[in-house]
Amino acid sequence: MEPVFALQRACFRYEDGKNGISAVRDAEGIFEEKKMYAIVGKSGSGKSTLLGMLAGMRLPTGGTVLYRGKDMRGIDREAYRRTEVAMIHQAYHLFPRMTALENVCYPLELLGTPYRQSKTLAGEKLLALGILQDQWNSYPEQLSGGEQQRVAIARALAKRSRVILADEPTGNLDQENTEHIMGLLRKLVAEEGYCMILVTHDREAAGQADVTLHMEAGMLNYT
Ligand SMILES: Nc1ncnc2c1ncn2[C@@H]1O[C@H](COP(=O)(O)OP(=O)(O)O)[C@@H](O)[C@H]1O
Ligand SMILES: [Mg+2]
Repeated sequence: MEPVFALQRACFRYEDGKNGISAVRDAEGIFEEKKMYAIVGKSGSGKSTLLGMLAGMRLPTGGTVLYRGKDMRGIDREAYRRTEVAMIHQAYHLFPRMTALENVCYPLELLGTPYRQSKTLAGEKLLALGILQDQWNSYPEQLSGGEQQRVAIARALAKRSRVILADEPTGNLDQENTEHIMGLLRKLVAEEGYCMILVTHDREAAGQADVTLHMEAGMLNYT
C-alpha cells in the first residue's frame, strides 16, 4: 500500500537576508498508516520545520514530499490542511476570542458539519481529554497551559483526519495526563489506523512510538 508520506531528499532552507539556514537536509523516509512515529532531537535541529512540510504549510525548497503518492507541490494544500491532516501546535494556537468548545467546533464547521452535531462531537472530544463541561465556555486565557494543550488536542482529534502531526503534544502536561493522552493516541493508531507523527522531548511519549527518528542539524536518521 501507498505510504502516507514519502520524503525524497526533502530539504528546507530559510532565506534570511544573506544568511540562509538549511533547517532540513536531504530527508528520506516513509510514514505509514497504523503507526506512531516519534521524532526526537535537540532544539533547532529542524523538527518543527519538517513537520510544517508534512502539514503542507511550507513546500520543500529541494527534493520532494509525497502525500499518498502525490507531490505536495501539485495538490490543493488548503483543502489538504482542512480535511487530510490535523496539526497540534507546540504553542497550542487556540483562538483567543473563542471558548474551549468553540475552538473545537471551528474545524468541524469548516468541514460543513451542522452546528448541533459539531457541538456534540466537540463535547465528546473535550470530555475524552478530561475537559469537563464547566470549562467548555472558558476562554483560553482562563485555562491553564495543560488545559489549553488538551483543548488543542481535542480540536485536532475532533475532525477525524487520520493523519495527526503533533509538535510536543505533551510538553505542558504532567505524568498522569501524558499517560492518558498517549493511551488515547495509541488507541487511534491501533484501532482506527491513524498515522501519528509526534515531535517530542518526552521519553514517556517517545517510548510509545513504533518508530523513533532522530533529527540532528537538519538530518533525519532512523535508529
Ligand atoms: N521562520 C524562520 N526563519 C528563519 N530561520 C528559522 C525559522 N524557523 C526556524 N528557523 C531555524 O531553522 C532551524 C530549525 O528550526 P526548527 O525547525 O524550529 O527546529 P526544532 O523544532 O527542532 O527546534 C533553526 O536553526 C532555526 O533557528
Ligand atoms: Mg520545534
